[in-house]
Amino acid sequence: MKTIYLAGGCFWGTEHYIKQFDGIIETVTGYAGGNIPNPSYEQVYTDQTGHVECVKVTFDEKVLPLKTLLKLFFISIDPLQKDGQANDIGTRYRTGIYWIDEQDRQTVEDVYAEIESCYEAALSEKIEPKTLAVETGPLQCFYPAEEYHQDYLTKNPDGYCHISSATQHFAKIYANLTKGLKAQQELSKEEKYRILFEHISLLIKHKDILTQRMTQISLMIHQTFGFWWTGFYIVRGNELILGPYQGPLACLRIAYGRGVCGTAWDEARTIIVPDVDEFPGHIACSSESKSEIVIPLRSEGEISGVLDIDSEKTDCFDETDAHWLEKIIALI
Ligand code: SME
Repeated sequence: MKTIYLAGGCFWGTEHYIKQFDGIIETVTGYAGGNIPNPSYEQVYTDQTGHVECVKVTFDEKVLPLKTLLKLFFISIDPLQKDGQANDIGTRYRTGIYWIDEQDRQTVEDVYAEIESCYEAALSEKIEPKTLAVETGPLQCFYPAEEYHQDYLTKNPDGYCHISSATQHFAKIYANLTKGLKAQQELSKEEKYRILFEHISLLIKHKDILTQRMTQISLMIHQTFGFWWTGFYIVRGNELILGPYQGPLACLRIAYGRGVCGTAWDEARTIIVPDVDEFPGHIACSSESKSEIVIPLRSEGEISGVLDIDSEKTDCFDETDAHWLEKIIALI
């Protein structure tokens, strides 16, 4: 059992979003980091207390690793918005990740760096500045909020929620996918892809911004198969730039025609590499990666990016993967 404190804007929405994931044991809304003990909602509302609306999250890390929980949390926020989320403005709505176990610092910093690199790359043409506004650090203090703020949106299903309906929809689908996979052990690869595809098809019914969608899909593929690295590269000029991914930090830029990714772009086709050592020009982001599959993304007849999946085992991918991943990519 583990505990982390997440501030994602109005705590009603953040608590509701987080608590549906498999592995969450308990959530408590409260006020964190300020300078008044036991504040009331009204005091925090003045924005003079230094407190932030925050959710204490207790979870089973064997079911839901901290890293995955943080990725899911990041999907629910706009990490670039300072001192507010959506229409809620004020320091009490700033975003933050606060730990009580010093061992969690590294995981928080790793995920933070991943998200930051992805924002630099994928959104660089759209959003400035790229520095994340999310506060991180050891928890200073936490006071549970009044009872009526606990499970607020369960008690008031039509109540105000600052998290977009597309993101809420994603959370339901992700939670469902996890439960579906858990309920049926010993699934074949084909069956897993069928379940994954069904869930991603449901996801697509709600429009969302492309990078969010890529994050969601890479998380869902990762959740289904646990591949060593799953991520997107996005075409910018004559390079591929690292987009949302799951796994360790990989190379940030790949030139057209270079490596497996650049070749899949150049040749506009899926490439399966059973043994990376035998692919001339393969770019080794890590010595852990032994086999790889790269699927190009098409947008209006042009290649707009690639989905890249790596395994730490040789010969991990075959035509079944190519078939289903192409179908998944065609949905985006
Ligand atoms: N191996 C890839 C580079 C990206 S990493 O695998 C994540 C390539 O040769 O293009």
